[in-house]
Amino acid sequence: MSLQPRPEISSLKAGVHGGINYAELAALGIEPCEVLDFSVCVNPYMPPPGIKRAMQAVNITQYPDPQATELREKLAGKLGVSPQNIIAGNGTTELIRLAALAYLQTGDTVIIVEPTYDDYEIAGRMMGARIIRYRAKDSLTPSITDITELIKQQQPKAIFLCNPNNPTGKYLSQDDITAILRCLGDGILVLDEAYISFVEKTWASIALITKGNVLLLRSMTKDYGLAGLRLGYAVAHEEIIAILHRVCPPWNVNVIAQKVGVMVLEKEDPLQKSKQKLQQARQYLVQNLTRLGLPPLPSDANFFLVNAGKAAVLRQKLLRHGILVRDCASFGLPEYVRLAPRTLSECCRFIKTLETILKNS
Ligand SMILES: Cc1ncc(COP(=O)(O)O)c(C=O)c1O
Repeated sequence: MSLQPRPEISSLKAGVHGGINYAELAALGIEPCEVLDFSVCVNPYMPPPGIKRAMQAVNITQYPDPQATELREKLAGKLGVSPQNIIAGNGTTELIRLAALAYLQTGDTVIIVEPTYDDYEIAGRMMGARIIRYRAKDSLTPSITDITELIKQQQPKAIFLCNPNNPTGKYLSQDDITAILRCLGDGILVLDEAYISFVEKTWASIALITKGNVLLLRSMTKDYGLAGLRLGYAVAHEEIIAILHRVCPPWNVNVIAQKVGVMVLEKEDPLQKSKQKLQQARQYLVQNLTRLGLPPLPSDANFFLVNAGKAAVLRQKLLRHGILVRDCASFGLPEYVRLAPRTLSECCRFIKTLETILKNS
């Protein structure tokens, strides 16, 4: 065909994500609703009661508020910032794209600390940026000294950091991020905190937005079990937010997502209780995986990596029993699967299934 996209797009590959592959399930004759999905870190105790009924009352015949005003006001109150410091997105992933669209151009240098979420590289490549990857020798423990050296050498326009990191669960400290920012100059730090709610001891990253070159990303799809609805937000200096609004498609967050977003923020109690239950489920998984000779790697988040030898084979075997785990080959970790806890009874089913598979192999 003579019609060609921009060269950056011709060479672009689709990202690899956890979650259900609908075509794969159809080929195996499994219904998506039958699958227990341990491959994504989405709160299984959410959304709180009453939300599904309230969704039915939403008027879908009118366009949504393009500014998502009520949602941004609620978030601002919760975070102690102004609504001008917030933009809502159709999931965090949309905001990663908007950041790249607004700030990157051909030839800009972008640093990505790997292994990590695919979409940073995709967003950078789309804009023609030059991607510099940093990866620790053990893939798990990044050296802040090495990263700051790299920043000084490369003077990037942007650095993408995932904190806690997907898939390792490593959570960088305030000192680590301060050291990185100190040498970043005029570049932007995109700090993806999609999983921050699942870290036990966090530090107050919101204060970083006064620096004027930090974009914090948060995901409501994970905290509140809204992965299918899609909802995320970014927090930053108001000039950055104004720029992101300029490149944001109109009505990017639909009426149902806006309404549900406001409602869940008014029900913080169920979220706190669900976190305690998730901690118990996580402990159960860690203890039993260790008992079965598959001890998880330490993680500051509630998801973790398990060395399964041939991870793709284990994933396939579990899937035939209706259980999904994340094969980490796309992260360059082909021996590992990533798991996030579900409810305690679902974790019990997972462990029983795994025991049967291990006995028969
Ligand atoms: C690090 C990271 N950021 C963002 C996302 C996407 O979140 P959302 O569902 O809010 O788009 C994911 C999803 O897997 C992720 O792992």
